[in-house]
Amino acid sequence: MKIACVGAGPAGLYFAITMKLRDPAHEIDVFERNPPGVTFGWGVVFSDLTVDNITRNDPVSAKILTDEFAHWDDIDVHFKGETVTSGGHGFIGIGRKRLLEILQDRARGLGARLHFEAECDPADPKWRQYDLVIASDGINSRFRDAEAEAFGVDVDERRNKFVWLGTGKVFDAFTFAFEESEHGWIWAHAYRFAEDCSTFIVECSEATWKSFGFDRMDQSEAITVCEKLFAKYLGGHRLISNAAHLRGSAAWLNFRRIKCERWSSGNVILLGDAAHTAHFSIGSGTKLALEDAIKLADVLNRPGVSLQAALDEYQSERSLEVLKLQNSARNSTEWFETLERYTHFEPLQFAYSLLTRSQRISHENLRLRDREWLETVERWFWKRATEGRSNKTAPPMFAPFKLREMQVENRITVSPMAMYSAADGVPNDFHFVHYGERAIGGAGLLFTEMTCVSPEGRISPGCTGMWNADQLAAWKRIVDFVHANSKAKICLQLGHSGGKGSTKLGWEGNDVPLESGNWPVMSASDVPWSPINQVPKPMTRADMEAVREQFVTAVRMGLEAGFDMIELHAAHGYLLSSFITPLQNRRTDEYGGSLDNRLRYPLEVFAAMRAAWPSDRPMSIRISATDWAGEDGITPEESVLIGEAFAREGADLIDVSAGQTWAEQQPVYGRMFQTPFSDRIRNEGRLATMAVGNIYEPDHANSILAAGRADLVALARPHLVDPFWTIRAAAQLDYRDIAIPPQYLNGVAQLARNLKRDAEAAAAMRV
Ligand SMILES: Cc1cc2nc3c(=O)[nH]c(=O)nc-3n(C[C@H](O)[C@H](O)[C@H](O)COP(=O)(O)OP(=O)(O)OC[C@H]3O[C@@H](n4cnc5c(N)ncnc54)[C@H](O)[C@@H]3O)c2cc1C
Ligand SMILES: Cc1cc2nc3c(=O)[nH]c(=O)nc-3n(C[C@H](O)[C@H](O)[C@H](O)COP(=O)(O)O)c2cc1C
Repeated sequence: MKIACVGAGPAGLYFAITMKLRDPAHEIDVFERNPPGVTFGWGVVFSDLTVDNITRNDPVSAKILTDEFAHWDDIDVHFKGETVTSGGHGFIGIGRKRLLEILQDRARGLGARLHFEAECDPADPKWRQYDLVIASDGINSRFRDAEAEAFGVDVDERRNKFVWLGTGKVFDAFTFAFEESEHGWIWAHAYRFAEDCSTFIVECSEATWKSFGFDRMDQSEAITVCEKLFAKYLGGHRLISNAAHLRGSAAWLNFRRIKCERWSSGNVILLGDAAHTAHFSIGSGTKLALEDAIKLADVLNRPGVSLQAALDEYQSERSLEVLKLQNSARNSTEWFETLERYTHFEPLQFAYSLLTRSQRISHENLRLRDREWLETVERWFWKRATEGRSNKTAPPMFAPFKLREMQVENRITVSPMAMYSAADGVPNDFHFVHYGERAIGGAGLLFTEMTCVSPEGRISPGCTGMWNADQLAAWKRIVDFVHANSKAKICLQLGHSGGKGSTKLGWEGNDVPLESGNWPVMSASDVPWSPINQVPKPMTRADMEAVREQFVTAVRMGLEAGFDMIELHAAHGYLLSSFITPLQNRRTDEYGGSLDNRLRYPLEVFAAMRAAWPSDRPMSIRISATDWAGEDGITPEESVLIGEAFAREGADLIDVSAGQTWAEQQPVYGRMFQTPFSDRIRNEGRLATMAVGNIYEPDHANSILAAGRADLVALARPHLVDPFWTIRAAAQLDYRDIAIPPQYLNGVAQLARNLKRDAEAAAAMRV
């Protein structure tokens, strides 16, 4: 094949090498706009896995590269005058210039023709002479942008400003240096990539950048400012830029995340940064470029495969890999963009939060990397959780937590889950066994299902209630059992279904109206949940007062039943949520319109409940932190204001759920998918929060808690299949100090032994 590679970055050069290795008969021209030896950037880092891949592909260039790699293990985080060092991270780095020299020599040696100072124009007819034109022309690819529609290009320009500099200072560790200035926070990502040189990337928010006046400074002035700011880390060394001699490169940049729906059009194929980018803070762009090149060369040289089939396979395999990295990269990018959310942390927790920001590194990963350091974090967590009384080194999920005078034994909670199994709102033997079993299963806090304050406030005929004496007695029996047989605390979740009421049992049809026996429903406005649901009656002031009193009565009954805590359910589109979300609330009175107005009634109910509940017992509020409807609905930004408003009325904990507030929601699911909302409310609003939503491993819980993304972690579905989830986690993590029903001690000891033996056998296999 006759092939042109536009751009002699890692992607273009490595593709030329790999094609020539597969078949020396390929004719390959590589065109590069810059002279040889001139490039942007300084060093790049790789992982061990990338080294394995390139070694399998071309042992010759891999040998030269690996001989020159700089290795280091530690990460140093400088923050508020302290340095937090953690080890075991295992980085490998090389100068970008040297990497390109090695690849250029290898490509030439294999017979590829390299043309420097050759600016390529996509409109030039010469490209038609080639069977394939590889657009390896980087993030600002002209070849991609010339056919932006055909490639389905999606660009997301990020908020922060960064500049990629170098320095003669040799950093022994991968270094993050955060400095607070009168203009705001500014920080550097620095790492050594050669005997005498390090990369030094400076980053800050746009506001800080402008406040410094960087927008009005030339490059040398900006560098002088950065040298002063980071003088204590540079030890007298200068900062150097190489952007000046480059064509098509600027000093300060905003990172641009590129995604393409299609990676080929006609004879043009996208490769490397031209097809996709991943934020520099996870250091994977070069790896992706090299791996793209290997895959594309593989499929193009496979006998009997049509060009279209080859390109389809190239895109489908590589785009999956890219998607995973882009997801982690997005988390990492956002962490730096919202840095000020975390600057109230102590240095140790700040470093932990930084290390786990992309969610690729978890608590147990950190233990494998540097057990001693992780144990320092665990001790710190316990000390804080116990106001200095405990010096325990143990997973954060087992640390106690206090809300008013209620202390929970650990941070795991059983999230509210409707069982749809009551008759006339009265909990029965099913509920007794269900809650009893979950209480003895080890969770620190147990929530009841949404328990309704009136018959019309039920979701379905199977919902539990708290409006009469039979219900109170049945709940009291459950609460007494929980208190007598476990250390768990129990919280009564109270709610009213609003416009989502009068529907079938959950498993018969979620939100589907009853076949018969429907009762009239009311809501903030006459907006039906869906075309098949009833049109609700908009609440009058008299309705509001009546319902508020029903909540207050239920609170008093909850007290009589012995509950430790009350939660008001103001999420998921039910009555109170229908006031908060603008998608359901169309009122024009003082209960509609602005967020303050929409919150007025839910806050009134909460305040009345709070007044009826003893001041030494806590109350929480469950909210939907987003309507998953973009700017049309509640946004995560507003959820902080919502949390703050309830906190002012005495809410001690914000239970951060999301969505289910309108039928056409567009949620983005994934592991721990709602935790970012809890993180935001906790750290912007400085409120205690509970995270929930697809959290299913002890490692998830520990990572969330240690990183300060929530104070409690709720699991719903995992507890449906495993009431003993917390005790099992304790056995798995070899944590002994958890309440286990004496009747079950033997079983737990046996489980712990087996899990330990399995873990040791797995570790031995790895060695
Ligand atoms: C601050 C920063 C830090 C980074 N750190 C890391 C890291 O630690 N590890 C890592 O793996 N990655 C890192 N990256 C990402 C990495 O630089 C890129 O992902 C990688 O270079 C992509 O390789 P590429 O060959 O696709 O594109 P590039 O390396 O951008 O190469 C494209 C080439 O095409 C040339 N070109 C462009 N247009 C034309 C034209 N019209 N005619 C002729 N030539 C043209 C350019 O001059 C350039 O040489 C970082 C990126 C940034 C911005
Ligand atoms: C069967 C079932 C019933 C639920 N009922 C309630 C409820 O009564 N009140 C409530 O606030 N959330 C309810 N939820 C939502 C859960 O509390 C939780 O927020 C959600 O399931 C996400 O957590 P998970 O991924 O751990 O399951 C219910 C969830 C399930 C699976």
